[in-house]
Amino acid sequence: MVTKQEFTRRRQKLMEMMDSNSIAILTAAPEQTRNRDINYPYRQDSDFFYLTGFAEPEAVLVLVPGRDHGEYIMFCRDRNIEREIWDGYRAGPEGAIQKYGADDSFPIDDIDEILPGLLEGRDRVYYAMGKNLTFDRHLMEWVNTIRGRSRSGAIPPGEFVDLDHLLHELRLFKSVAEQKIMRTAGEISSRAHCRAMKICKPGMYEYQLQAEIEHEFAMAGARFPAYGSIVGGGENGCILHYVENSAKLKDGDLVLIDAGCELQHYAADITRTFPVNGKYTPEQKAIYDIVLEAQLAGIGACVKGNHWDEPHQMTVKVITEGLLNLGLLQGELNELIETQSYRDFYMHRAGHWLGMDVHDVGDYKVHDEWRLLEKGMVMTVEPGIYISPDNTNVDKRWRGIGIRIEDDVLITAKGPEVMTSGVPKTTEDIERLMAE
Ligand code: GLY
Ligand code: MN
Ligand code: MN
Repeated sequence: MVTKQEFTRRRQKLMEMMDSNSIAILTAAPEQTRNRDINYPYRQDSDFFYLTGFAEPEAVLVLVPGRDHGEYIMFCRDRNIEREIWDGYRAGPEGAIQKYGADDSFPIDDIDEILPGLLEGRDRVYYAMGKNLTFDRHLMEWVNTIRGRSRSGAIPPGEFVDLDHLLHELRLFKSVAEQKIMRTAGEISSRAHCRAMKICKPGMYEYQLQAEIEHEFAMAGARFPAYGSIVGGGENGCILHYVENSAKLKDGDLVLIDAGCELQHYAADITRTFPVNGKYTPEQKAIYDIVLEAQLAGIGACVKGNHWDEPHQMTVKVITEGLLNLGLLQGELNELIETQSYRDFYMHRAGHWLGMDVHDVGDYKVHDEWRLLEKGMVMTVEPGIYISPDNTNVDKRWRGIGIRIEDDVLITAKGPEVMTSGVPKTTEDIERLMAE
């Protein structure tokens, strides 16, 4: 669990990074309509939650380092007994102070009167422009309000600076508490994949395996998946972001499952590819073993001091070599790598940062150079080989095979820690589990 003290520390760290006489403004995620009168389940914006732990919509966080009447200001929905009967509990400004530690809090409906006063005279405004167009417009209106009063001595803010850069640098490094949550999210998600392996049989539908996975998430206290679960049988495994999950699983096919739970706003992200009937064919196993070797080599390169691209390069090398050995690529190894010939089969990168967002924040390059891996960073390693059913350059027996293997890796002083090792990934171990 992230404690109140940790939320405070995060705000303090951010405020230390801000220039003097500046202000930071963040908005809660807007609610999203699913269809007439019905919203999608609400998910707070990760930046907003990271700094507050506050999960309600229609809220604005303002940080003003050094402000006498309090540095941490929250605008949120007022309490409203009638609305709460319909839509559920609200903390209200008092709750924002008592439960969420705000120094000062106001009803969101009063923001027009109060925010211009907070902006006035600040040299710098930290704000993520362009994400919330309605709020961008309000902000410009408030600035114009101040400009309109400049003859009475009001000073509009001097410059707007992107907040993401500072905040996302903090989010990139996971604290001990965050690591613990992510480890648990990894364990729950591993168990869910094991459940799918044990239950899977020909004739089931992809969405039924999805239900088994998500059942395991919820029963373990992780109410939502971190992203739309991908369950792709046969050639659907070649569609990278397949979320339709509507087809029947066929005897002799593989099924690719890319699913991870969200626990306390932190994501897990696991992919396994296994045979629907419990036994890999020789072709499936041949491709699988290349992907696995690539993944292990990629994980091996997740070492402090290596740069971000090294795990990717390892996967490219192993996959190109493997495809060459099977005759799926022809030519000379280095040249095939140089010309990116592998991209017909492996068209994505080996991974991404992982955290509160499944594709988490943080720069991959610094001053145009790949960033060095450091302790506390979490990333995925997820190479794959996808042989299009329409690829007439390869023998028919290979077509339609899509395989990805994905784990979540924490960079530690002692080397890579795989946070999702609870689900098997060699063909032997998977076949054994499926036979249980
Ligand atoms: N599940 C999204 C990804 O693996 O990047
Ligand atoms: Mn994934
Ligand atoms: Mn991923």
